[in-house]
Amino acid sequence: MDRAFEVAVVPSFSRLGPVVRSRLEHWGTPPRLDGALALVTGATSGIGLACATELARLGARVHLVGRDERRGAAARRSVLEAGASEAVLHLADLSEPTEVADLAAALAGQGSWTAVVHAAGALLARYGCNSAGRELTVATGVLAPHVLMCTLAPKLARGANVVLVSSGGMYTQPFDLAALELPRPAYRGAVAYARAKRAQVLLARAWAPRLAPLGAAAWSAHPGWAATPGLRSGMPVFYRLLQPVLRSSEQGAGTVVWLAAGGAAGAPAGAFYHDRRPRGEARWPVSHPYRSGPSGVAEAEELFRWCVGATATPWPLPADGGEVEPARREP
Ligand SMILES: NC(=O)c1ccc[n+]([C@@H]2O[C@H](COP(=O)([O-])OP(=O)(O)OC[C@H]3O[C@@H](n4cnc5c(N)ncnc54)[C@H](OP(=O)(O)O)[C@@H]3O)[C@@H](O)[C@H]2O)c1
Repeated sequence: MDRAFEVAVVPSFSRLGPVVRSRLEHWGTPPRLDGALALVTGATSGIGLACATELARLGARVHLVGRDERRGAAARRSVLEAGASEAVLHLADLSEPTEVADLAAALAGQGSWTAVVHAAGALLARYGCNSAGRELTVATGVLAPHVLMCTLAPKLARGANVVLVSSGGMYTQPFDLAALELPRPAYRGAVAYARAKRAQVLLARAWAPRLAPLGAAAWSAHPGWAATPGLRSGMPVFYRLLQPVLRSSEQGAGTVVWLAAGGAAGAPAGAFYHDRRPRGEARWPVSHPYRSGPSGVAEAEELFRWCVGATATPWPLPADGGEVEPARREP
């Protein structure tokens, strides 16, 4: 049943996915996180807000990252109402390098993180770039998580889980580092979004072996199609047509929360999950998304090194006992 759903796409991505799969054997409940520290970016809306609320219900002390004070305050209230003993709001525009650096420094002083969810993201109709000239989709979805993880890695608790919220849209684009950032003349929002989402899957793969010596794990996951403000504004026609079968934000957040709480502990880290199972990363019309092989390990390393250069932010710890990577800027 699970495989048939996966092949047929619509049942898998729609609300039918969690409704049917939650009755199958593999569907576990997320472990409790009583007193643990959890971080969620994109926590002011949709899937990120649902993650923050559910992590609070699991007992976590939740830190929310948003860029709007009013939406942030409302999200914080929701998290407190869900029972969080602590709900702290951090304001930062994750597309702006200085704001990301300030946020990372503030988060590093908070204690040991047990769950980290990178949910911030958007499908942007028009080209935009940040003050460093980086395209906004990549800056927010790829470079900001890189900088946050490089800062927080030494601050992760043993058994911590880090999740990047990717998208099934990534199936439509192969990975090509040279084409990751679309320039203004060639810009198409859906393509920029899908490429950044593909890159997030590889970023989790690059993080996994670096976090393993710390006893922590990284994952990526796609939530399916969820009725969120982001989907409504980013893909209005799609939203209208599929509204009857869209997941709720909570259903979209389900597997992300399960991963963040340690539901997949012991499974091979770095995998791409959907509805509590690792999923393949190739699907029509892109049958070979990675040049190096089905898991794209070489591309993951290529992307990681590019992030180090683009942000001048090296991994802070020896990877597998090796040298700490030097900071270097792109030529
Ligand atoms: N909904 C779906 O069907 C679906 C499917 C696949 C993947 N996803 C992924 O799920 C994640 C959440 O999306 P959603 O559908 O829940 O959309 P959403 O309702 O628009 O939520 C997106 C969140 O990201 C934040 N964000 C966006 N750009 C930001 C920036 N530059 N700096 C700081 N925060 C920023 C938004 O903040 P503001 O409140 O300030 O806008 C908001 O909190 C995204 O990564 C998205 O790609 C969603």
